[in-house]
Amino acid sequence: MGAQVHIRRPSSTQRSEVHAGRAEPRSPNRVLRWLASAFGLALLAALAGAGTAPAAENPYQRGPAAVAENPYQRGPDPTRDSVAASRGTFATASVKVPEGNGFTKGVIYYPTDTSQGTFGAIAFVPGYNGSWAALEWTGHWLASFGFVVIGFEAINPGDRDTARGTQLLAALDYLTQRSPVRDRIDPNRTAVIGHSMGGGGAMSAASRRPSLKTAIGLAPAIFSTDMRTMRVPAMLMAGQNDGTVTPSYVKNFYHQIPGSTEKSYLELTGAGHGFPSWTPNSVMMRKVIPWFKIFMDNDVRYSQFLCPLMDWTGVSAHQSTCPLLPGGPTPTPTRYEAENSPAVCTGTIDSNHTGYTGTGFCNGDSAVGAHAQFTVEAGTTGTATLRLRFASGTTTARPASLIVNGSTVHTPSFEGTGAWNTWVTQTLTVTLNAGSNTIRFHPTTSAGLPNIDHLEVSTT
Ligand code: GCU
Repeated sequence: MGAQVHIRRPSSTQRSEVHAGRAEPRSPNRVLRWLASAFGLALLAALAGAGTAPAAENPYQRGPAAVAENPYQRGPDPTRDSVAASRGTFATASVKVPEGNGFTKGVIYYPTDTSQGTFGAIAFVPGYNGSWAALEWTGHWLASFGFVVIGFEAINPGDRDTARGTQLLAALDYLTQRSPVRDRIDPNRTAVIGHSMGGGGAMSAASRRPSLKTAIGLAPAIFSTDMRTMRVPAMLMAGQNDGTVTPSYVKNFYHQIPGSTEKSYLELTGAGHGFPSWTPNSVMMRKVIPWFKIFMDNDVRYSQFLCPLMDWTGVSAHQSTCPLLPGGPTPTPTRYEAENSPAVCTGTIDSNHTGYTGTGFCNGDSAVGAHAQFTVEAGTTGTATLRLRFASGTTTARPASLIVNGSTVHTPSFEGTGAWNTWVTQTLTVTLNAGSNTIRFHPTTSAGLPNIDHLEVSTT
């Protein structure tokens, strides 16, 4: 608890060093983590993960100077259809990995083309008791888009997230240093992905090796990583109907990732816990491929698919920092509609005045205390910006108390907006707690509140 995070936003000059193979200094924290992983001390690893992240160690830099100058771009200009296809443009091959390299049953999938330079490398691990056979369908699929992929199984089927993270890093090291395809790989562009306990493993690997370009957790079970210290761009994907690793569990980790780290939360419509397993999942891949392209290849041609989300097929929820490259994250505020539970409206939900978002607005009763209340989640304790959208066709301002978690913190007054269908936004700054918070607008005169449309909350 109370971990301090020092994040230094890289300058554009530093960003250009990203693929130059700059050596990482071995900080005390890294040594601690190394010791922890070497001796299997999960608690120590967790503590190390929760520690201060040294700014100088952050090797992640964003942004190509320009697309035309991007030496890491591979393949033709993508389209909505091409990113959803089960094959990219590269012919692929695969090769089995001998045992004894720190993981088991490894298979490498790679583009056969050697004419275009090297490719980024991805390590992929399944979940608790999971087999690579269940995810094997992803191997040639990913490779055909221009990545070298190593899939494998955990040494012990019951290995937890930290052990899987260690094995992901071992697999990457094998791939880039000793494998028969090492010459095809750019060792400075590596990434991890995993399902369930393997998704937690991907986060664990990223927390220990911040030079990774990205980490993707598919229904990730995150036990040992303090996501508040995550500096590697992370995509967390949840299944809407997953009762094991629930959407709210995954979304909570998404919120914990600092706003200065690029991140994305995606929820797949109707999907259960096994959404990556056995059956090829095109909805998953059409998000995973652009994400890897953006962060491993700095390929901004793929930003159009994710930022904002172009294709909502099979997606029930999405949040992300946008733009994803270049320039770094601008967290999108989370919108809470006044008409949607758990919001409370002491009055009626109406829709007779146009211009509202969602399906209506809160027309509070004309009485003292007839409130509109929102329940909002915050990943960490800290300052949040609230933007309340309202309309008031009267000329008399309507005063209220803003009550956050039971305490009055502001006394805003809502002026007349000229008409009941003229909506304006009032901005207020508050402190929120990590977790759930109640935000109540409590009118202090018998006129009640103006009509309330929604509340937007930005926590960074
Ligand atoms: C009008 C208007 C309502 C509004 C009310 C008020 O009746 O149509 O939408 O809530 O005035 O004064 O609050």
